[in-house]
Amino acid sequence: ESESTTTIIVVGASGDLAKKKIFPALFALFYEECLPKHFTIFGFARSKMTDADLRCIIGRTLTCRIDKRQNCSEKMEQFLGRCFYHAGQYNSEDDFAELHEKLKKHEVGRISNRLFYLSTPPDIFIDAVKNASNSASSANGWTRVIVEKPFGRDSDSSAALTKGLKQYLKEEQIFRIDHYLGKELVENLSVLRFSNLIFEPLWSRQYIRNVQLIFSEDFGTEGRGGYFDNYGIIRDIMQNHLLQILALFAMEAPVSLDAEHIRNEKVKVLRSMKLLKLEDVVIGQYKRHTRGGMTYPGYTDDKTVPKNSLTPTFAAACLFIDNARWDGVPFLMKAGKALCNRRAEIRVQFRHVPGNLYKGSLGTDLDLATNELVIRVQPDEAIYLKINNKIPGLGMRLDRSTLNLHYAARYSKEIPDAYERLLLDAIEGERRLFIRSDELDAAWRLFTPLLKELEEKKIAPELYPYGGRGPVGAHYLAAKYNVRWGDLSSEY
Ligand code: BG6
Repeated sequence: ESESTTTIIVVGASGDLAKKKIFPALFALFYEECLPKHFTIFGFARSKMTDADLRCIIGRTLTCRIDKRQNCSEKMEQFLGRCFYHAGQYNSEDDFAELHEKLKKHEVGRISNRLFYLSTPPDIFIDAVKNASNSASSANGWTRVIVEKPFGRDSDSSAALTKGLKQYLKEEQIFRIDHYLGKELVENLSVLRFSNLIFEPLWSRQYIRNVQLIFSEDFGTEGRGGYFDNYGIIRDIMQNHLLQILALFAMEAPVSLDAEHIRNEKVKVLRSMKLLKLEDVVIGQYKRHTRGGMTYPGYTDDKTVPKNSLTPTFAAACLFIDNARWDGVPFLMKAGKALCNRRAEIRVQFRHVPGNLYKGSLGTDLDLATNELVIRVQPDEAIYLKINNKIPGLGMRLDRSTLNLHYAARYSKEIPDAYERLLLDAIEGERRLFIRSDELDAAWRLFTPLLKELEEKKIAPELYPYGGRGPVGAHYLAAKYNVRWGDLSSEY
C-alpha cells in the first residue's frame, strides 16, 4: 500500500461546501497524519484559475482545529503544496481526459487510487460521473465517487439518478454521504445500545413510550434560498439526516459490524415503517420578526425565493414502525430553521413505573416523573438520563436529577468534524457510514406520497416568527399521541 498513491479530486472546488467543509476536513486529516503517504488533491471547476489561486482560496478557510494553541502555518504550507487545480467543463470528456494526463504525472507510475468528490449542483452529477469514469478513472487502482444530497426530490427522480450513476459506476464505487452519519454521537448510538447491558433490553415498545428526533437551527436559509425552495425542510433534513438516525436507533442488532450487515438492518427497519400521512405532519414557514430593535427577515424576504412560496422551513411528523419491537410507539420528528436555538438531539421517553410507590412525593403529576434519555448530537455533545432521586435529608421528597455524560468534561480531545470521518472512510473503503441505494429507495418511499400531497393540495405552512419555538401545530401533533416535546419542557 505504501507504494500506491491516492488523489482526491474535488469536483466543484470553488463551491461553498468545498471551501467550508471538504478542504478543511482534508487538512485536518493531513495534520493528524491520517492521509496516505502519497496523496495529491486536485480541484476541478469551470473557472479559469491557477494552482496558486486555488491555494489562496483554500488557505483562507483552513483552521488549526486540531490544536488551537499551535501555529500550524508550516503544516498548512505543506498541505497547500499538494493541492492543484484543473479548469474544465463538467460535460467535456476532453477536459477530463486532460485531467487524467495531469493526474498520471503526479502518480509517477505508482498504483493509483482516485476519489472524486462531487461537490456540485445535482444536475451535473451524471455528466461528471460519466466523464470521470470514461476518461479519468484509474487504470490500476480503485476509483470511487462521493456524492452528496440532493439525491433527487422523490422516489422517481432518485431512482433515475441511481440508474444514471450505475450506468458508469458499480454500487461499491458510489459513496453517498449523509454527513449526520459522520457525527460522533450518531456513530456512538450503536455502541450505546449494543455494548451496554442496561439499554438494549429496554429498547422496545415494552418500555419506551416515544422517541423524539429533533433538529433546529437559529438561522434561516440566508443565501441558500435558491436551492432550498425546491426542496424544503422535509427533503433537506427529515428524509435523510433524521431518518438515518431513526434507522440506527430502531434497527435490530446486525450480524456483525460489517457495512453490509449494518445496512441490511437499516433497510429492514425502513421498510417496516408506515408511509407518512398528511394528518401526522405539521409544516411551518418562518416570517419576519422584530425583537430588541433588530429585524430578522422572513423566508420569503429572500430575493431568490418566490413571494408566494409554500415551501416549509419547519416540519413536525409522527412516524410508526410496523414491527414486533416498535408497534404503536410514536417516533416524532421535528426539524426547523430560524428557531430559538441550534440543536440536534434524540430523546427517548420511557413509560411510567407501574404502581409507583412514590406517587405524590414529587409534588407534580406522575407523567413528569418518567425517565428520559437524551442523546445530544450537537452542540456540546452529551448523553444524559433523567431519573427520580430522593432529595437528601429527613423526610421523603423526590426530585428530578440527571446522570450526565458531558463530552467536554469527560474527553479532552476535540471531536472531529463529520466530514473528516467520512472522507477517511471513503479513502479506506469503509462503507458502513454511507447510504446504499436500497436504503435510499426505502427512505424516499416513506416520504414521496406525503410530499406529493403537500404540493398538490398546496397546503399552506403555519407561519412562525423568526427566532421563536416554531408553529404551535407541532405541540398539537404531539398531544394527539399523548406526547410532550422534551426540548420544550421547563426542565430541559
Ligand atoms: C445540510 C442541510 O444537509 O445540513 C442544511 O442542507 C443544514 O440546510 C445542514 O444547515 C446542517 O448540518 P450541521 O452539520 O451544521 O448540523
